[in-house]
Amino acid sequence: MAARGLGLLTSLPLRAQRSQVQRPLRRLLSCPGTVVAALGKEEQSSGSAETGSEDRTPKKRFSEVQKERREQAQRTVLIHCPNKISEKKFLKYLSQHGPVNSHFFYESFGLYAVVEFSQKESVASLQNVTRTPSLGTEAAIPFRSRYFNLKLKTPLNQTSEQSSIQCRNQSSPSSKKLFELLCCAESVDDQLNTLLREFQLTEENSKLRYLTCSLIEDVAAAYFPGCTVRPFGSSVNSFGKLGCDLDMFLDLDEIENFSTHKASGNFLMEFQVKNVPSERIATQKILSVIGECLDHFGPGCVGVQKILNARCPLVRFSHQASGFQCDLTTNNRIALKSSELLYIYGALDSRVRALVFSIRCWARAHSLTSSIPGAWITNFSLTVMVIFFLQRRSPPILPTLDYLKTLADAEDKCIIEGHNCTFVRDFNRIKPSGNAETLELLLKEFFEYFGNFAFNKNSINIRQGREQNKPESSPLHIQNPFETSLNISKNVSQSQLQKFIDLARESAWILHQEDRDRLSPSNNQPWGLAALLLPSVANSTSLAKKKKKPASERIKNLLESIKSSSTENSTATNG
Ligand code: GTP
Ligand code: MG
Repeated sequence: MAARGLGLLTSLPLRAQRSQVQRPLRRLLSCPGTVVAALGKEEQSSGSAETGSEDRTPKKRFSEVQKERREQAQRTVLIHCPNKISEKKFLKYLSQHGPVNSHFFYESFGLYAVVEFSQKESVASLQNVTRTPSLGTEAAIPFRSRYFNLKLKTPLNQTSEQSSIQCRNQSSPSSKKLFELLCCAESVDDQLNTLLREFQLTEENSKLRYLTCSLIEDVAAAYFPGCTVRPFGSSVNSFGKLGCDLDMFLDLDEIENFSTHKASGNFLMEFQVKNVPSERIATQKILSVIGECLDHFGPGCVGVQKILNARCPLVRFSHQASGFQCDLTTNNRIALKSSELLYIYGALDSRVRALVFSIRCWARAHSLTSSIPGAWITNFSLTVMVIFFLQRRSPPILPTLDYLKTLADAEDKCIIEGHNCTFVRDFNRIKPSGNAETLELLLKEFFEYFGNFAFNKNSINIRQGREQNKPESSPLHIQNPFETSLNISKNVSQSQLQKFIDLARESAWILHQEDRDRLSPSNNQPWGLAALLLPSVANSTSLAKKKKKPASERIKNLLESIKSSSTENSTATNG
């Protein structure tokens, strides 16, 4: 275990020591100036609202956030700018169409500006003075979107303030920077909070996500006026990491709700429509035409793939300007409700997001998750596993879904396709947990808990917050919180599950070893969370080939012996 390959990390300034007491001083002495500066900057900008454990600031309801962001996005435009531009002149030019509320620049194969006007009318005013480009040999399709291209009639004068533009970063830190930050942290808790701060979606990135949905909505509205395209999944459930995909949901139900209001007196007017044999075929047909439309007319939409035979049909494409990989679905209201549930869990206790981000990052570092669909565990499943684990603490850190249902009032009631998706949506009605365990302890216990979980017979169930007998034989069974007869991790193979168990045991072992070594002087090795993100020995192929599986069992036994000896020691000390 001690001879773990450090690879890239050996060259890093990893002088922070393992001793809890020494860490603050070491941190100041050993962190390179740039890292300290970066840390200071982050601490200033992010504040404690998201991460501080004492954080009890009132949080907005999911629906309020969605509504606000959506409305903001409708007043916003995306502009591809020349590389050299005067920010002052740019804003002055746009202000002719109305006051600008906020703006920011970012780089993604060119310079882009996201400009939010105070009023929606300003967008129409800008569109009115915008021309369709005339191309030499090719023909342009005259689609009037809110994604513009700004050109300079004459090159910018060198003396103007062209260099003052500050671009907002839209990507997560490199692994080198991450390791530097983690190794300079003061404690494991600090490491988890640092990782959260560095990876979570920024205000600008969230805005860009809602704007991208709003731009796609404009395209879909050509066929379905009044439709809504809503983000869901990690873009909105508070567990999104910079660079995660953008899951979108084309909502056609609002159009129907609108039409029901129009019934009056004894008359009921209905649209003449075409019928198809099933809901699924309707979904496929709708997505098929939207996919075609995005492919032919959607500015910036490239690599459009129609994946219509999937369990949940979707259109996948890249939105070049924002850099997002997008998955557009329709008829997927339950997924939106799952996003709201995760948002609530993420907001209930500040430890939840910090732990989920670290577990997701750990899983990615060890290739337990992948961006390619396959037999791997998904981030969604991992998040549900963390929630379940936090429900199992004593006292529980998170309430069960059934309990959240008992707190719901009439307005919270929600039935989707026959499934009861009711839970309380007002945070103020949920009592905070009395559990004060540290993130360090929770991380360690998470690995131990799942390193020893009886996956062969038990199912993970956040509705009831307790293990249940598995209703079917999939290696990993995690009950879908709303469609309770479904397993959200049905795709996970036995070998992937075993890999997860082995790594969980190894990680628990590493953290226990560190506890033991705390009082002895240590060398310049990554510690805490940083050590967990290093390549694993238990799962390296050479070892796996030599000995079929015993690494994990050995670690489990060693872990138990460490635990029993530390219990004996503490009993002796107490005595
Ligand atoms: P990342 O994209 O990996 O960051 O996480 P994500 O939570 O966005 O996951 P993903 O893009 O795979 O899925 C988007 C959303 O669809 C999830 O947040 C869930 O709400 C929902 N979802 C994903 N997989 C399943 C599943 O197997 N069953 C159900 N019911 N919902 C799922
Ligand atoms: Mg996603």
